[in-house]
Amino acid sequence: MSRKVTKAIFPVAGLGTRFLPATKSVPKEIMTLVDRPLVQYAIDEARAAGITEFIFVTSRGKSALEDYFDHSPVLEQELRKKGKDALLGTLKETNMDSGAIAYIRQHQALGLGHAVWCARRLIGDEPFAVILPDDVIAAEKPCLQQMLEAYEETGGNMVAAMEVAPEKASAYGVLDVNRDLGGVSGMVVEAKGMVEKPKLGEAPSNLAVIGRYVLSPSVLKNLDNTQKGAGGEIQLTDAISADIRQGKPVYGYRFRGERFDCGSKAGFLQATVAFALARDELRDELQDYLRGIAQQTKAAE
Ligand code: UTP
Repeated sequence: MSRKVTKAIFPVAGLGTRFLPATKSVPKEIMTLVDRPLVQYAIDEARAAGITEFIFVTSRGKSALEDYFDHSPVLEQELRKKGKDALLGTLKETNMDSGAIAYIRQHQALGLGHAVWCARRLIGDEPFAVILPDDVIAAEKPCLQQMLEAYEETGGNMVAAMEVAPEKASAYGVLDVNRDLGGVSGMVVEAKGMVEKPKLGEAPSNLAVIGRYVLSPSVLKNLDNTQKGAGGEIQLTDAISADIRQGKPVYGYRFRGERFDCGSKAGFLQATVAFALARDELRDELQDYLRGIAQQTKAAE
């Protein structure tokens, strides 16, 4: 049986240039879907999967993130005084236990692989998860939980995989599939390679890697020697591929759920609509509004 995974790395040190000028002063991960910052969705997913140690790789200008997870006694007292119990409950759910959360600085945005490597001393010699908070996944069972259940059977390294159209593949790391294992609910494939951002027409499959990983500590060792790859960045994909070359297994997990690329404006807007429509108190009004727009657009055609 595989060792239990209790630590997760949240790399949040990127520059977030696609959201400038907002990200000049607001970390991308603090931007909200309805009323919850992206990072809250990531933390909730990790907690549901049994993660108890949360390691954030941050950078200059991200202090709002640290503040977000702090307790806010004055605000709590005020809500208590006013009898706003529901809001008080919501607020308390965002509190993190003392010692459960750690922050490491990535001094230069050298790439996702480098960001993960920055957390190596806090991981030590055990398997760990990586969650990219700008990939938000709506799922009945949270994506990382699905993956950890599968990982209990497979061990090795596991990446979340999603089918993409061939013309979109060059935006992702893509799996070179060795064989379909079926495995847990038929969701697991074994990879014989991974290619980061393949050129158009050169993707080895239609299975793209998105922002959830369960990795063995050997990947951190590989990162010691990983050189800059696609886009001039130190790529996590390259360090995982090195494990495959050393004969260690890497699996792709076809998760059930809908992934939103909240690192892009279009993805963020789609997620906003989807998460708002999932809320009882917002659904009717928003649906009316969207129907109105659709009708106007149709009439104008
Ligand atoms: P992105 O590729 O989305 O980059 O990073 P970015 O800087 O956040 O955004 P853009 O492209 O400039 O708009 C994917 C994830 O990896 C983290 C980011 O914070 C994000 O969660 N990352 C990326 C780091 O932590 N450090 C890096 O050096 C690069």
